[in-house]
Amino acid sequence: MDHDLKGRVAVITGASAGIGEATAERLAAQGMDLVLGARRLERLEEIATRLREAHGVAVTPAVLDVCDAASCDAFARTVADVAADRGVEVLVGNAGLARGVARLAEGTADDERDWETMFETNVMGLLRVIRRLVPDMVARRRGTVVNVGSLAGIETYEGGGVYCATKSSVRVISRALRLELLGTGVKVSCVNPGLVETEFSMVRFEGDQAKADSVYAGMTPLTGDDIAASIEWIASLPRPMNIEEVTLYPTDQVSAQKVHRST
Ligand SMILES: NC(=O)c1ccc[n+]([C@@H]2O[C@H](COP(=O)([O-])OP(=O)(O)OC[C@H]3O[C@@H](n4cnc5c(N)ncnc54)[C@H](OP(=O)(O)O)[C@@H]3O)[C@@H](O)[C@H]2O)c1
Repeated sequence: MDHDLKGRVAVITGASAGIGEATAERLAAQGMDLVLGARRLERLEEIATRLREAHGVAVTPAVLDVCDAASCDAFARTVADVAADRGVEVLVGNAGLARGVARLAEGTADDERDWETMFETNVMGLLRVIRRLVPDMVARRRGTVVNVGSLAGIETYEGGGVYCATKSSVRVISRALRLELLGTGVKVSCVNPGLVETEFSMVRFEGDQAKADSVYAGMTPLTGDDIAASIEWIASLPRPMNIEEVTLYPTDQVSAQKVHRST
């Protein structure tokens, strides 16, 4: 790793929990100043206080709802203020969610709203942030965009059709962006995790702890920090080197549906 991140600016969407929060920890430990976006400002403020005290970096928590264009505009203005002199060195497009496990031909009207939420958040939300923040990175001819895709974007499973479609889109968008940015010096990567124990399953099952726990029963999932370590690694690589995609599995998982469970 020869790319010094210290004193540079990282922007992380979905930084109030899970992979985003763990990435904030890792990049703060590298000495990066951070802009953290998510809907739950209180949680961002707690994280910001902790990281400032632990690492002596500047951390700006900012409300961000990636489903809302005006919220993305306001977030982009905050980023522009913080990064006015330096630009954004690392942009982590992580905000995302799954809602439910409805089968496509059996979906109810409620399920259809969940499908809209997934597309709005995981696909349109990512695009809204890219459109607002990447042009300045291009103008400065440096920086790394790391989007968080999923194993679900590589493989499809029953009940996951819409989530898989959104995460497949994240991979395609990342690839298209890399093609379009060739020659600009801005790097684009996509990180695809398998099972990671975060709030993800609680969100998917609307707070049903038993259902969320069953996702990780009898196996050892990845942690948010495992994924954050790969994002940190990608961000730290020499500027002439770009990682297109990384897929991370727990040792107990070999495909979307094939998981070794001891129970
Ligand atoms: N956990 C897994 O097994 C797994 C596997 C593969 C990929 N992923 C992907 O990893 C990413 C992070 O998920 P996670 O596992 O860390 O789950 P998590 O703990 O639930 O965190 C999700 C983050 O996204 C934010 N978010 C959700 N909707 C948002 C919106 N409309 N606007 C802004 N922020 C929003 C949440 O913040 P607020 O609620 O405060 O807005 C939270 O900070 C997601 O893109 C997910 O699809 C997860």
